[in-house]
Amino acid sequence: MGKTAVQAGAYLHHLAFESSKPARLAAFYGNAMDMEVTQLSHSEWRCEGPGRRMIVVAGTDKQLAYAGFACRDQAGLVALRLRAQQENLEVLNSPSPYFQPGAFALYDPSGQTVCFGLAEPVQNNRTGLPGPVQHLTFAASDVEAFVAFYQDRLGFLLTDRVLHDDGTLATAFLTSNHEHHTLACFQSDRNGVDHHSYEAGDWGYIRDWCDHFASHDIQLDWGPGRHGPGNNLFVFITDPDGNWIEVSAELEVIYDRGVVDWPQHPRTLNKWGRAIMRS
Ligand SMILES: [Fe+2]
Repeated sequence: MGKTAVQAGAYLHHLAFESSKPARLAAFYGNAMDMEVTQLSHSEWRCEGPGRRMIVVAGTDKQLAYAGFACRDQAGLVALRLRAQQENLEVLNSPSPYFQPGAFALYDPSGQTVCFGLAEPVQNNRTGLPGPVQHLTFAASDVEAFVAFYQDRLGFLLTDRVLHDDGTLATAFLTSNHEHHTLACFQSDRNGVDHHSYEAGDWGYIRDWCDHFASHDIQLDWGPGRHGPGNNLFVFITDPDGNWIEVSAELEVIYDRGVVDWPQHPRTLNKWGRAIMRS
């Protein structure tokens, strides 16, 4: 089987999170992530900025409702759906409002809902700090199952692995386009989201984001630092529900290279300083 997801040029287009205090969470993303907030109903909000979209729905804190990956074109989406069917995956209707008819959703091995579709055309040109939503990182007890699903059954490309001393997977990085990773998974004693990330592109914009956070009295939880895998610069903040948000810059661009293995060591996670180890 080929790299179907990569051939589709899939990229992270939006995320939807549940929250027990959805109005509070949406307001936070409006301020912290420089997004415009619209309340759609008593239980659903949309937050939109340049290249970034967050849906907040009433529910359980820190629970991903769904992630939306957009494909480059119809042919890529059709091929990905066919691949999922050939793999005997249960193909569901997409719950996402951001995708055109024809989108579909899948449950991954840890029960997360991931949607694939064609994005609705952008209605306006939003301005604000640069930083499209770029990658989603899960926490899961079984990273091998994560790789087996996204790589072997959907055609994502494994780029980097972080290995425990015994050779088992601590972290896996997968991509579906030219970016070092669009999905990743840390081994953890829980199943859920580890963090989601916005790619500012340039180091100078990390400064601008940090100044922006300071203007809203939001303190950094981690960083600035530089990851080993992906070589990206990063800072992390936490939203009021406890979701971890990364602003990244200079993420490695992938051409044609093999998988790179890293040791499970603090310097792999942060070349510059303190590491927050997940396992
Ligand atoms: Fe990240």
